[in-house]
Amino acid sequence: MLKGKKILIGITGSIAAYKIPLLVRMLVKENAEVKIVMTDSARDFVSPLTLATLSKNPVFSEAFDSITGQWNSHVDLGLWADLFLITPASANTLAKMTHGIADNYLLTVYLSARCPVFFAPAMDVDMYQHQSTKDNIRKLVQRGHHLLAPTSGELASGLCGEGRMMEPEAIFNEIRRHFRTKQLFRDKKILISAGPTYEAIDPVRYIGNHSTGKMGVEMAKAFANAGASVKLVLGPTSLRVDYPLIEVFPVTSALQMYEACLAFSAEADILVMSAAVADYRPEKMEETKIKKSVESIDLKLVKNPDILKKLGELKNENQFLAGFALETDNELENAWHKLNTKKADLIVLNSLADEGAGFGTDTNKVICITKDGTQRNFELQSKRELAHNLIQYIYELTGKKQANA
Ligand code: CTP
Repeated sequence: MLKGKKILIGITGSIAAYKIPLLVRMLVKENAEVKIVMTDSARDFVSPLTLATLSKNPVFSEAFDSITGQWNSHVDLGLWADLFLITPASANTLAKMTHGIADNYLLTVYLSARCPVFFAPAMDVDMYQHQSTKDNIRKLVQRGHHLLAPTSGELASGLCGEGRMMEPEAIFNEIRRHFRTKQLFRDKKILISAGPTYEAIDPVRYIGNHSTGKMGVEMAKAFANAGASVKLVLGPTSLRVDYPLIEVFPVTSALQMYEACLAFSAEADILVMSAAVADYRPEKMEETKIKKSVESIDLKLVKNPDILKKLGELKNENQFLAGFALETDNELENAWHKLNTKKADLIVLNSLADEGAGFGTDTNKVICITKDGTQRNFELQSKRELAHNLIQYIYELTGKKQANA
């Protein structure tokens, strides 16, 4: 898969640099062409000789070789790469990347690169948590760069927390995934609903559910990474989605979500309804706070419109409609029923009975069932990984759909 892919690795000064030779070896074994640029301080942590031997290319740190006078053009190197991976990315380098400071060779290459940029921060927990680092990372992600988020664990300082560089094997998998899904959905328009809905009882209270919107947001990012333009209709959630190619439409109630989804549905090629929509809303929202003056109150609930079902009725033959199902019992039976009654092409079934799956977790395990009667299981994996696998699967299904049309 990586044959002939030109991967430029930028190494900055962090102890995690000692892991990069492993990554270089994995990439070269898959026949990628690897070139390396490192900052002066990175040279204290890992030897250029090791990296040059493994990558089979000279390692660059300076525009000029002071002995031979050879000129290493940062522009040529930046333009050469199909992908620029900055790992480990120190807080200092992230800050300079954010502000366009070019006071070393690596940064001049960064400013010249036109290819996708991936970065894997590595630093101590307090540096990682610092507001300025967070702001910088957010801006880089907004710019379209891909964050390879650090993990939590023991750090070189002896402290424990977030800031450990993503492991080389995981970085390698992200790079493979990028080349696998890159441009799969170029020029496609995607509509996604995600998160919970809140149904107001009075100005203070609401009926809601435990959905965090994580799975839908990961799907939105995966589609955007694959070149699609995404409209994300997002219920109330603490997640911030600042991402290129994703337009976010925040809504609160099921009725608002219904209106937004219907307004965008006609132009979408693929519609993914992952929101946990409240099935009922209070018939009437009290205008003032309900006081606890009586022993019990009756709350009359009325049905909300079913957005997925409505989209199933409206959809044309070129559109692909996916829904989610969250079940606690008779899972498959209920999911097949939803697929048929809502006229969806695909239902992604989550079971609350599965450990590590469902609301708020970072992992998920699902079963996909399709209109053609097929079933595919996706074992427990991170929601991010699952989102990539699901969009890959949707790509296969939409291809099949066109071939059958
Ligand atoms: N859905 C929707 N609008 C609703 C309710 C659900 O669009 N008013 C969508 C969800 O986004 C999901 C699918 O329908 O894609 C199934 O949602 P789920 O809550 O599992 O099932 P319901 O259809 O609400 O049925 P029930 O609550 O009886 O299981």
